[in-house]
Amino acid sequence: MKRSLFMTLMVGALACALALPLYAAPAKKAPADGLVMTAPEGAKATKSPVKFNHSKHTEAKCADCHHKKDAKGNEYAKCDAKGCHDNLTAKQGKDSFYAAFHGNNAKSCVGCHKTKKEAKPNIPTACDKCHPKA
Ligand code: HEC
Ligand code: HEC
Ligand code: HEC
Repeated sequence: MKRSLFMTLMVGALACALALPLYAAPAKKAPADGLVMTAPEGAKATKSPVKFNHSKHTEAKCADCHHKKDAKGNEYAKCDAKGCHDNLTAKQGKDSFYAAFHGNNAKSCVGCHKTKKEAKPNIPTACDKCHPKA
């Protein structure tokens, strides 16, 4: 009798321990629409700020865009975080701020949009569509 009670408690404790991580690390939700992206601090912006709506980008996985943590381990760091796309002068390369959004690869805004242009003719690829003129 005593022994089976002990076993029950052990099994219960184990189940709790296994379930714990589910509560400790809740899946993060994408932020509401209307996020506005601007040139990083210290860089002089030549173009108007860009709107980005997560609700229009559910086809891609979170990790497709949020593909690297910043130095502090933040999974949803700013694109221009230190060690990420923090080169404000280069137009090409992994660290280039500009290429992160305009490069010819499926992860960049313009790169992905170009591949979808045929299926979605209104997808923004022209400068003014993302950087509206004042
Ligand atoms: C699909 C959206 C999109 C399109 C199309 C687009 N950009 Fe951008 N651009 C961005 C994003 C996002 C940023 C980063 C936020 C910011 O700096 O405003 C950016 C930043 C920039 C920057 C660096 C910041 C600044 O203000 O100087 C330049 C320069 C720029 N874009 C030029 C262009 C030019 C030129 C075109 C057309 C050939 C273009 N962009 C088309 C999304 C776009
Ligand atoms: C198509 C690319 C893309 C996808 C897919 C995407 N995001 Fe984002 N997300 C962004 C961009 C761009 C930003 C703004 C980064 C910046 O300002 O430098 C952002 C910002 C965020 C932020 C920070 C918001 C803030 O206000 O600081 C969170 C949290 C986030 N995303 C969560 C998610 C989650 C969760 C998913 C999946 C359900 C997701 N994202 C999918 C591109 C994406
Ligand atoms: C992996 C592919 C992919 C990437 C990367 C991507 N987009 Fe898009 N984007 C799409 C698709 C697909 C649509 C069309 C959605 C629809 O019509 O429902 C879209 C639509 C849009 C629109 C028009 C709809 C709206 O919200 O007004 C804007 C603006 C936009 N994207 C901005 C951006 C910016 C800025 C980035 C980079 C920070 C980006 N996108 C990265 C696939 C992508």
